[in-house]
Amino acid sequence: MAHEVRGVVARAKGQPVAIETIVVPDPGPGEALIDVQACGVCHTDLHYREGAINDDFPFLLGHEAAGTVAAVGPDVSSVVPGDFVVLNWRAVCGECRSCRRGKPWYCFATHNATQPMTLQDGQPLTAALGIGAFAEKTLVAAGQATKVNPAASPAAAGLLGCGVMAGLGAAMHTGDVQPGDSVAVFGCGGVGNAAIVGARLAGAATVIAIDLDAKKLDLARRFGATHTVDASAGDVVEAVRALTDGNGADVCIEAVGRPEVMQQAFFARDLAGTLVQVGVPDPSMIIELPMIEFFGRGGALKPSWYGDCLPSRDFPMLIDLYLQGRLPLDDFVTETIALDAVEDAFHKMERGEVLRSVVVL
Ligand SMILES: NC(=O)c1ccc[n+]([C@@H]2O[C@H](COP(=O)([O-])OP(=O)(O)OC[C@H]3O[C@@H](n4cnc5c(N)ncnc54)[C@H](O)[C@@H]3O)[C@@H](O)[C@H]2O)c1
Ligand SMILES: [Zn+2]
Ligand SMILES: [Zn+2]
Repeated sequence: MAHEVRGVVARAKGQPVAIETIVVPDPGPGEALIDVQACGVCHTDLHYREGAINDDFPFLLGHEAAGTVAAVGPDVSSVVPGDFVVLNWRAVCGECRSCRRGKPWYCFATHNATQPMTLQDGQPLTAALGIGAFAEKTLVAAGQATKVNPAASPAAAGLLGCGVMAGLGAAMHTGDVQPGDSVAVFGCGGVGNAAIVGARLAGAATVIAIDLDAKKLDLARRFGATHTVDASAGDVVEAVRALTDGNGADVCIEAVGRPEVMQQAFFARDLAGTLVQVGVPDPSMIIELPMIEFFGRGGALKPSWYGDCLPSRDFPMLIDLYLQGRLPLDDFVTETIALDAVEDAFHKMERGEVLRSVVVL
């Protein structure tokens, strides 16, 4: 039996999104049907509706979600109906070259549901990041649903599904921040502030937050930044050096997705320091660096896909830290909204007014 539910659909490039009736099939082999409880509004949803990801309209948006399992396909044992789950967009395959090498967080063949969700006329929907959770129900690969402690608030838990996990992991996994390290975070939106929290959890002694927006720097201080730098007021690289005994930071995290910011992060490192790029550039962006600086400074330049997370390992652990009061996920939820307010939330995001608007169903 298929389910007719409400979902937020982007029909054409640049057009406002609208609520449509969508058809969600019952789960087949390897799939799970989810009753969505909450889903955060991420920049990537807006990128989809602007046609910046690909042209596979219509899109069913939403991908930072938590909910309960409504039903599973015949061969699924990893989750059962009633489980409280956070959805992820990298369900690892276990078989590709990277999984076989023991690095499943780079999996090159991640799983999504095989049956499409559709509009009422049968037109298939492209689910954002293979999830599509601005909807009362969604269909995913069972591996995309990670069981966590149901005591967590769905609005907060769902945020682990994308931006907050990317930021936490950029510091904890990709940057491999160690106790006592100095860390500089460039861009303090949801992702950058999560990187600040991740750096603190990993034991960083100095955490420098950098942004153009004074409101974001205030937030960064609340999330645990020990110092802030206003990027609109002078030389950012010099400012980071001045806060690190003239040396630069051990780990610099670029959480904006712009070449000039990546340049700053490159030069603001200490010798043998690590540059983590978690901000997503657009395809036109180019970065130029003197090769001698790349060589002479040593260290590592590392892109961070989804914070190099492994959902099955990280989501339950991070929810436990949240329930112990050690991970302030609730503070990332600026507002909770209804399903029909996603378009409005995009505009608030563009104006820099929110860390996260979260749809609660
Ligand atoms: N790697 C991943 O897996 C992953 C996952 C989710 C999001 N992202 C990306 O992370 C980036 C940040 O996402 P977000 O949700 O935090 O976005 P956001 O728009 O909320 O935050 C970006 C912040 O950067 C600041 N900023 C802009 N220009 C700056 C500059 N020149 N110097 C310093 N700060 C500047 C803005 O004021 C804002 O606070 C985006 O590119 C997003 O696509 C990556
Ligand atoms: Zn794999
Ligand atoms: Zn996202």
